[in-house]
Amino acid sequence: MLVACWSVKGGAGVSVVAATLAQRLAADHGGALLVDLGGDQPDITGTPAHHAPGVADWLAGGASVPADALAHLEVALPGELRLLARGHGPLPVGERADVLLAVLARELRPVVIDCGPPLPVAFGPQGEGELALAAASSATRSLMVLRPCLASLRRALAAPLRPSGIVVVNEAGRALDAGDVGEVLGVPIVAEVAVDPAIARVVDAGLLLARPPRPLQRGLRHAA
Ligand SMILES: Nc1ncnc2c1ncn2[C@@H]1O[C@H](COP(=O)(O)OP(=O)(O)OP(=O)(O)O)[C@@H](O)[C@H]1O
Ligand SMILES: [Mg+2]
Repeated sequence: MLVACWSVKGGAGVSVVAATLAQRLAADHGGALLVDLGGDQPDITGTPAHHAPGVADWLAGGASVPADALAHLEVALPGELRLLARGHGPLPVGERADVLLAVLARELRPVVIDCGPPLPVAFGPQGEGELALAAASSATRSLMVLRPCLASLRRALAAPLRPSGIVVVNEAGRALDAGDVGEVLGVPIVAEVAVDPAIARVVDAGLLLARPPRPLQRGLRHAA
């Protein structure tokens, strides 16, 4: 199972959702791999992996670096969860990226990919964002994480791919809700999560995995 979490607007909650989902899948399946294409997972999960080599380093290694070298780059997270860090340098698409996605698709463990910066925004002059798009396009579950506001809905309508499901992150006082999102985008809402100061606090303390907030876990239980 390859689950990709992505967004169309920054700060929606992709990294928090990806880490929480990966932790749940690791508990349910006896292991899971969290792949970070954005670089925020060391902070989100409270793991000192900021300088760890990862996806970018493996891609830069070219054909001389065997596919199974990826496993040596994994960093242990709490429980049976492991992290493949973003690493340093660009994330080019091409043959090497195809091998990466094929290896991840063949994984026996569930794999959750944090696609990093919002997709349309992420496309930069050197092809930034293209690997995230390829990952989201090839995933068995492609989850768009979205806060229900007009700007997000507009961007979602113009998104370069259609998700298989939407995770709505609800902020109090919004005029729009998950029902509006589902109706406008015509994509099933697979989970709803509230914006909750308690969630922000555990994330800021680097304790998301050590003290996973129950409402967040409950909200995501049917997401993947
Ligand atoms: N359900 C929530 N309740 C409260 N705060 C949240 C929630 N989800 C995420 N946050 C907070 O919002 C901020 C953005 O979350 P996160 O990093 O997961 O978003 P993102 O979509 O990955 O952002 P980026 O586009 O920068 O990668 C963080 O400070 C995080 O702690
Ligand atoms: Mg992120």
